[in-house]
Amino acid sequence: MEEQFPGSVVILGAAGGGRLAYWILQETHPGTRVVFVDDGMTEDSLVLGGTECPIIHDWQFDRVQHPGTEDFRQFMVSCTYPRVKKALVTKALAAGLVPAPSVIHPGAALVGRPTISVGRGGSIHPKAVILNDTTIGDYTFISAGAQIGHDCTIGDFASINFGSLVLGYTHIMEGVATGSGSTVRDHLTIAPWVQTGMQCCVTKSITEEGITVAGVPARPMVKQPFLDR
Ligand SMILES: CC(C)(COP(=O)(O)OP(=O)(O)OC[C@H]1O[C@@H](n2cnc3c(N)ncnc32)[C@H](O)[C@@H]1OP(=O)(O)O)[C@@H](O)C(=O)NCCC(=O)NCCS
Repeated sequence: MEEQFPGSVVILGAAGGGRLAYWILQETHPGTRVVFVDDGMTEDSLVLGGTECPIIHDWQFDRVQHPGTEDFRQFMVSCTYPRVKKALVTKALAAGLVPAPSVIHPGAALVGRPTISVGRGGSIHPKAVILNDTTIGDYTFISAGAQIGHDCTIGDFASINFGSLVLGYTHIMEGVATGSGSTVRDHLTIAPWVQTGMQCCVTKSITEEGITVAGVPARPMVKQPFLDR
C-alpha cells in the first residue's frame, strides 16, 4: 500500500526548482502546507498563487514546527544541480528532518508500477515515462518528457532533465545530471557526478567521475565547466 504523504513539507531551495516542486506537490497532494529553506534569500516568505509560504533561514524551524506534532519534519528537494542537492540534503538530515516519499505526478507514466522502485525526497514530473524493473534513487528528479527504459537504475541525487532518454539496462550513478534532450544508449554505466550536455548522444559507458560530455557521439568537453554552482 502506498505510504501516506505528510500534510506539511519542507522544500529545500526556493528558486525555480523549489517553486516547481511546490506546484507539483499542489497537483499531487492539494492543500499540503509548504515552507522553503533558502539561506540565499533575504525574504521571510514567498507568495505562490496567493498562498504565503514561509522561508526558513539558518535551519531554524522553531516558527513552523510545533512540539508533539509532525509539522514540517519531512522534506523534498528539486534543484537542478546534484552537488547543491547533496549539500542541502546533508544539512537537512543534520537538522533532524527526514525525506518525504518522492512525489509522482499523475501525468507521469510508470509502466509496470509494482516492479518500479522510487526512493524518497525527490519528484517525478508530468509526461515522464519510466518502464518496468527500474530503480529510482533518493533525491532524484525525473523531468517532464524524460523517458527511462526498463531495468535501469538512477542513482541518488541524479537529475534527469527535460526530454532525456535513458535506454534499457543502463545504470546512471549518483549525482549524474543529464542535459535536456540527451540520449544514453542501452546497457551503459555513467559514472557518478557526470553531466551530459544538451542533445548529446552517449554511446559508451563513462568511467571518469564528475566530467562533462557533449556532442554526438558524446566526448569529454575540452574545457570542463565548473558545475558546483
Ligand atoms: C554542456 C554544458 C554543461 C556546458 O556548459 P558551459 O561550460 O557553461 O558551456 P558554455 O556555454 O561555456 O560553452 C562552452 C562551449 O561548449 C559548447 N557547448 C555548450 N553546450 C553544448 C552542447 N550541449 N553540445 C555541444 N556543444 C556545446 C558551446 O557552444 C561552447 O563552444 P565554443 O567554446 O566553441 O564557443 C551546458 O551547455 C549544457 O548542456 N548544460 C545542460 C543544460 C540543461 O539541460 N539543463 C537542464 C535544466 S533546465
